Amino acid sequence: MTAAMSCAGLRKSYGDVLAVQDVGFSIAPGEAYGLLGPNGAGKTTTISMLVGLVRPDSGAVHICGTDLATDPMTAKSKIGYVPQEIALYPELTGRENLRFFGRLFGLPRRALARRIDEVLDLVGLSDRADGKLDTYSGGMKRRINIGAALLHGPELLILDEPTVGVDPQSRKAILDGVERLVAGGMALLYTSHYMEEVERVCDRVAIIDHGRIVADGTRHELVSMVGSADKIKLTLDGDADSAFAKLQTVEGVLEAVRTGTATVRLIAEGGRYLLPALITAVEGSASVTAAEVVEPDLEATFLHLTGSTLRD
Ligand SMILES: Nc1ncnc2c1ncn2[C@@H]1O[C@H](COP(=O)(O)OP(=O)(O)OP(=O)(O)O)[C@@H](O)[C@H]1O
Ligand SMILES: [Mg+2]
Repeated sequence: MTAAMSCAGLRKSYGDVLAVQDVGFSIAPGEAYGLLGPNGAGKTTTISMLVGLVRPDSGAVHICGTDLATDPMTAKSKIGYVPQEIALYPELTGRENLRFFGRLFGLPRRALARRIDEVLDLVGLSDRADGKLDTYSGGMKRRINIGAALLHGPELLILDEPTVGVDPQSRKAILDGVERLVAGGMALLYTSHYMEEVERVCDRVAIIDHGRIVADGTRHELVSMVGSADKIKLTLDGDADSAFAKLQTVEGVLEAVRTGTATVRLIAEGGRYLLPALITAVEGSASVTAAEVVEPDLEATFLHLTGSTLRD
């Protein structure tokens, strides 16, 4: 089966900054693939190479079997790409904006009118379609942008952090719409630094950090990399710095991260049995005022693999 998208050996540097190095993965038809990484990890640079906006220093990209470098027109026609930045006409309505982009794609007038209705329904804006763009919230504009990327019926939809800075209602509409598209057979590349979105939407996830994919697999495969470790969140009252230093030395603690002035997150082997030892360890420096033990999730995996949290 030909992959909806495959890339191999992608590399891109900007001057001294190696933004992406040796990135490769593939997305099956109808598969939802997540690229999860913190700010500056190389998500946008990777996507820019996949959609032909940035030329890689080395590596290759195929879209539905077509080499992006040798036949960019055909390759790009299969992709719907929604960039992080929004470029729409504020004085036009939502529907008029979509019509404008549909004409750019060369869609015939009647088919386009029908397609615009479908797309508006998908992004949940049918009832607001005839309002001017400058009366829309940021999230509604983002939804029109997603709609524009869908007009030509792409086989692969690429979304670059589609929910950053959008209102909760739009966020829900975007995630619901994306799930419907995937259920309908569209392949998806979804980038985000929101763990819970990637867990919800994606079949497979790659964790990207410092320009490299450090692991990829299903949620289950990734989480099992952490082994039987648990995630523990502690809230401390007292000298948190000194307590943090003590916690790091407790046997069984694999990773420790300061998540706030009074909060600490630990990954620990058999963490739930370690609580008494943790409470004892900080004595003299601080007291533990709250403790929560969570079984491993993607966040624990991320922490385990990269030694940092996604939003710290
Ligand atoms: N045009 C550019 N010129 C110079 N450096 C760049 C350029 N674009 C990206 N970089 C650098 O490359 C690295 C990767 O950036 P990139 O934008 O791909 O990360 P990202 O994962 O999309 O981050 P974010 O979550 O902030 O969008 C960063 O160190 C960034 O500063
Ligand atoms: Mg980015």
